[in-house]
Amino acid sequence: MSNRQNTRILVTSALPYINGVKHMGNLAGSMLPADVYSRAMRLLGHEVLYICATDEHGTPAELAAAETGLSVSEYCDKMHEAQKAAGANFKLSYDYFGRSSSEATHRLTQEFAIALEANGFIEERTSQQVYSVADRRYLPDRYVEGTCPNCGFESARGDQCDNCGKLLDPVDLINPYSAVSGSHDVEIRDTNHLYLKQSDMSGRLRDWVETHRADWPALTTSIAIKWLDEGLRDRAITRDLSWGVPVVDADGKVRAGFEGKVFYVWFDAPIAYIGATRDWAKETGGDWEKFWRLDKGAEDTRYIQFMGKDNVAFHTLSFPTTIMGSGQPWKLVDELKAFNWVTWYGGKFSTSQKRGVFMDKAIDIAPSDYWRWHLMANAPESSDAAFTWEDFQASVNSDLANVLGNFVNRITSYCVKKFDGAVPAGGSITEAEKWLEAELDERLPRLVEFYEAREFRKAMAETRAIWAAGNEYLTQAAPWTHYKSDVDQAAMGVRVGLNLVALFGVLAQPIIPDAAEKILAAMSIPEENRTWNFRGGESCMNALPIAHPVSAPPVLFTKIEADDIDAWTERFGGAG
Ligand code: MF3
Ligand code: ZN
Repeated sequence: MSNRQNTRILVTSALPYINGVKHMGNLAGSMLPADVYSRAMRLLGHEVLYICATDEHGTPAELAAAETGLSVSEYCDKMHEAQKAAGANFKLSYDYFGRSSSEATHRLTQEFAIALEANGFIEERTSQQVYSVADRRYLPDRYVEGTCPNCGFESARGDQCDNCGKLLDPVDLINPYSAVSGSHDVEIRDTNHLYLKQSDMSGRLRDWVETHRADWPALTTSIAIKWLDEGLRDRAITRDLSWGVPVVDADGKVRAGFEGKVFYVWFDAPIAYIGATRDWAKETGGDWEKFWRLDKGAEDTRYIQFMGKDNVAFHTLSFPTTIMGSGQPWKLVDELKAFNWVTWYGGKFSTSQKRGVFMDKAIDIAPSDYWRWHLMANAPESSDAAFTWEDFQASVNSDLANVLGNFVNRITSYCVKKFDGAVPAGGSITEAEKWLEAELDERLPRLVEFYEAREFRKAMAETRAIWAAGNEYLTQAAPWTHYKSDVDQAAMGVRVGLNLVALFGVLAQPIIPDAAEKILAAMSIPEENRTWNFRGGESCMNALPIAHPVSAPPVLFTKIEADDIDAWTERFGGAG
């Protein structure tokens, strides 16, 4: 572990849509694991840049703004701040949280389109669109609703049926009507749009995905290959909307016939990963090119994306088409970590039906550490994972309060009471210390490997096992029993116990940063000694100097009671 090479790592998590605060499932499937991973990699000494942003274009933004009575741009300003605050409440350690509406992203989007067209990957085609006579406008995507041709659901949205999940083209809807005015006075008209010729890129995309079969999770490659096997369709990348990135020619003037049209949100959103990195550089003086330009150092950057499974096709097929088709030396993703869903008792989260907890309310009822631990320990990695209040309670009460919290509290208070709050000397090695050393020698390297492989459930299970080994050690060493007959031997148990407290604080930093800070502050561990540079179990057990000052931290975790669960079930829904 000691010869670890320092690497430059770019991390992005799928950009949350601007229209509303995200629920705990969204948090668990993209931003939170990206944060935990970024924190762990920083502790290992890597140079990490974690970028995220709000995804602000498209019909969802326009429709949500219309409901509030704000202009779209005011609505986005307000919601961007709300999402930024929600991220800060959950201690998401973004290096930059940008906006897809920024000027940098606008310009990059236009430049990519121009390069793609020059290389033959974009083509202007005439297509049929739903036009509302009453609203005097075309109705893209969610602006039109009607009956799903697949399942008969009567209020399917133009881009997707919420009932059967099928992706739709608005012109396929039966009995279509305007979502703006409700008017059924709509007709199908011809209009021009730009198309991204993904079909021409199929071969290159397949080759590229195949090279990652071994190192991407099966969930990721299977989704990409399924789309490729079905045959990629060329997709319209412009829409009849006014909010978004305008379609321009190389001279910067609006392209003829594209007045009142903008790029489709899924075309510019991933480009915003780059745009937000440029905005970060502008604000901090950082170098964005070493993260994104292969000709400027990005060959040495590892780029890791985090997202829910519904985003995989866009990140393995359409965004790579944009990158490859540009013919320019842009960085492609190296590792793509995709997640299944967190469900609410096996069903869907729903704002309107008052089912599930969203980030703004979650923080009112429990500290961010509780959520972070529970969601990562139950990360939806190999399958969907159901959230229940009972499981949440068990994570907090047994893992955090009993296994970690009690340990820290027991040994630090005992040190304060019996050893003047200073690391004691004395005692000789017994079977208990030998056992603990072997445990740490085996578990610490494995823990680091799980983080490096982004296996979150396993990393959390290993962390819990290390905490449990600490408890087992104290049972074996039993300093409180020895104290009466052999203070020296008691000192040994207390000293090793205190070293474990410090180690647990160091290990907890990526997952439960607030509790970790309390532990490390109580143990007076200076910043420079908080990194992950483990030199085996023995050195972890003897890291603290004799006489190093120790205090007992304030209460770390408060148990969740049955009454809490009743109240939360009432407020947010539960089983059934
Ligand atoms: N806003 C999308 C969603 O919530 C994710 C966009 S990811 C991006 O599903 F890369 F395209 F930005
Ligand atoms: Zn349907």
